[in-house]
Amino acid sequence: MGKLKGKNLLSILDLTREDLEKIFHLAQALKAEYYAGKKIQDYLRGKTVALFFEKPSTRTRISFEVGVYQLGGYPLYLNAQEMQLKRGETIKDTAMVLERYVDGIMARVFSHNTLLELAEFARIPVINGLSDLEHPCQIISDYFTIIEKKGFKKLKIVYLGDGNNVANSLILAGALLGMNVICSSPKDFLPPKEIVEKAIDLARKYGGKVEIIEDPKEAVKDADVLYTDVWISMGQEEEREIRKKVFPPYQLNMNLVSLAKEDVIIMHCLPAHRGEEITDEVIDGPNSVVFDQAENRLHVQKAIMALII
Ligand code: CP
Ligand code: NVA
Repeated sequence: MGKLKGKNLLSILDLTREDLEKIFHLAQALKAEYYAGKKIQDYLRGKTVALFFEKPSTRTRISFEVGVYQLGGYPLYLNAQEMQLKRGETIKDTAMVLERYVDGIMARVFSHNTLLELAEFARIPVINGLSDLEHPCQIISDYFTIIEKKGFKKLKIVYLGDGNNVANSLILAGALLGMNVICSSPKDFLPPKEIVEKAIDLARKYGGKVEIIEDPKEAVKDADVLYTDVWISMGQEEEREIRKKVFPPYQLNMNLVSLAKEDVIIMHCLPAHRGEEITDEVIDGPNSVVFDQAENRLHVQKAIMALII
């Protein structure tokens, strides 16, 4: 399975361009087999994958759980609230116990440091199922969807709204794939400077471009892809009032969509707060691919697990 075997996937930066392309190829093959009626493949036969959650989830939990099953393995759902962690056991000890039982860990955590600690103390692959810093499996799946819809070529991809975990992974992976990625966020809610700088460097290497354009109307001009995410991520509930004041100009509505290319695709990782960051008309409209995105999580994460675990 090559260089990915046994590695962690905590950040898009853990992957090379070649790794990403390998994931896309296998995902395409697994998806084709699935549609041809072969729903069970043997890549994880006899293996157990722990699915560890500190936060709620619909898509990530279901797509990983079903994905491990379809690869012939056993998905072990672990809710942090129901573990001894809740009573003060450390992540370090939890990691050292988990590695004795399972073959890989997918974890959704509040702090990215928790993932780093899991990866340090469990000598088995750890996959990021969302942290405060990144959501790499989401974004790898989303580029697979973009390529399915538009072909593998340089595209103008515009992200509107909060410079959050999804935005960070989107700009890093876009850079690695040589895309032109624009992030349009209010100035106090931009992605972290280090992420933007790394993305700009990578984009330069792969022939793309990463830019920050604060004005959403200017940013969306002639876009091939418009992507948005919630204004209030899990763990930021206390900032609700201030965020609801700052973000309305970035709402993905028909006015902004009309400035993009006619065949623009509309993306959202979901769950959406309809009427906040995106209108019903846009998310339910003909250009929206949000449910194809959700579906592709299954096929792409199966490829990720097959290659890593
Ligand atoms: N997009 C995504 O990760 O959805 P869930 O929070 O439902 O897992
Ligand atoms: N940015 C959102 C993504 C949810 C899938 C959050 O972190 O809550």
